[in-house]
Amino acid sequence: MNANSVSPIPNYEYFLELLEAHDQSHLLHFYSELSVTEQKELLAELNEQDWDTLGQLIERYGKAYTAAVDHYDISPAPYYPSEPSAELEAKYKEAIKVGKSLIAAGQVAAFTVAGGQGSRLGWEAPKGTFPATPIREKPLFQVFAEQLKKAENDFGKAIPWYIMTSPMNDADTRSFFKDHQYFGLDAKNIMFFPQGTLPSFSKEGKVLLREKAHLALNPDGHGGSFKALKKSGAIQDMKRRGVEYISYCQVDNPHVKIMDPLFIGLHALDGADMSAKMLPKAHAKEKVGNFCLIGGKLGIIEYSDMPNELAEATSDKGELLYNAGSIAIHMISLAFAESITDDPESLPYHRAVKKVPYLEVETGDQVQPKEPNAIKLERFIFDAIPLAQHAFILETDRVEEFAPIKNAEGSDSPATSRDLQTERAARWLEHIGHPVPRKADGGVDAMIEISPLTASSSEDLKGLELPEIKPGDKVYL
Ligand code: UTP
Repeated sequence: MNANSVSPIPNYEYFLELLEAHDQSHLLHFYSELSVTEQKELLAELNEQDWDTLGQLIERYGKAYTAAVDHYDISPAPYYPSEPSAELEAKYKEAIKVGKSLIAAGQVAAFTVAGGQGSRLGWEAPKGTFPATPIREKPLFQVFAEQLKKAENDFGKAIPWYIMTSPMNDADTRSFFKDHQYFGLDAKNIMFFPQGTLPSFSKEGKVLLREKAHLALNPDGHGGSFKALKKSGAIQDMKRRGVEYISYCQVDNPHVKIMDPLFIGLHALDGADMSAKMLPKAHAKEKVGNFCLIGGKLGIIEYSDMPNELAEATSDKGELLYNAGSIAIHMISLAFAESITDDPESLPYHRAVKKVPYLEVETGDQVQPKEPNAIKLERFIFDAIPLAQHAFILETDRVEEFAPIKNAEGSDSPATSRDLQTERAARWLEHIGHPVPRKADGGVDAMIEISPLTASSSEDLKGLELPEIKPGDKVYL
């Protein structure tokens, strides 16, 4: 947190006094046992924190925490439909034209947030290295890289790609790309930078040690990306390149269309600061954020905070009134991103109680908690939406754009994602009249993978020589 990290790190006595004042002196309990290098590492970590701010956060979100959700003046959010109505048709056409020309002019950058810990998936390496596709088992990072490569070929312009990592996975992410020759992209156009971290603390408000010389740190949430974009120099780099718009996506959805001319064009035509894609919710209590107008401003209410009576409210036709679910795909104007970074406290924190392994100071034992024991604070990207002067949402199709990999098994798992990838590939083929075998229940009776280098929509499949697909086949295009 300390922006002044180039100045010399103060000594042990300084931190002892500081930590005593904040009731955190246990963090120096093992100091005398550490090697000189470890002592330096610990002091450097302590120096990274702004202890006054952290003290206030611990006070607010620790023992004294009460959930205060202000749900006043809430109404359903309007959105652009996925299929334009007659009066929107001309606007969508124009938007696609504008979007394409902005990509071709190099004014749109891709931004992938990949700093999360991916604890639900249980994959030790960075999540972007997870083998995601049904046949070739391409890692998520490769799926995005190939999309960008195709866009570069289609539009004749290099697309800068910013990848936010965390201090915990930064080195592994960089070496993964290097080992794979950046998947055919020019390394000069890819910038990696780590996001910030915050210490996890006990329910009693004590910051936890992970080891004798290290705090238990967690990445500060995808909302930490604004701060990280600025601190890393990414915003400067974007300006230098003439970028005006940031296409934001998360690392766990191989179906995201990173360069979507319609979305980009609508964002530009509307002069929006931040825009989002939405899906009609599968059911009232689906675990996605709910787009709402809150006091007249577009915002998101997390599923866990959404009052039941609103989540389940229906129209006369029996349709969910609050049907717009968030899938974490955004367009962000560079000027808006910069305005958020000017006030680093503009986004609120969210509190999660999680299982965090730690070192017990009294006994020196390493503890692997079986129950949630610690508080993690994170910021969420979507909390920037209500700060926008202009914001909109665009409806999209679930199969087309949402095949997330969150959990090891069950919903939103590698298996459901692979099925969705095959389903989308089948639809694209069927759309151009190429037959795909289907089972009695409608599922695809084959495994199909379409490389992002081959097609970014069914249009790209037209004119290709396509093989006959028989039941049970594995087909890679
Ligand atoms: P999730 O909310 O799914 O969190 O992140 P996660 O940490 O990856 O996974 P779990 O909850 O531990 O299982 C959604 C996206 O936001 C990024 C993730 O990398 C993913 O792309 N993210 C999340 C960050 O970049 N930084 C964070 O601090 C948190």
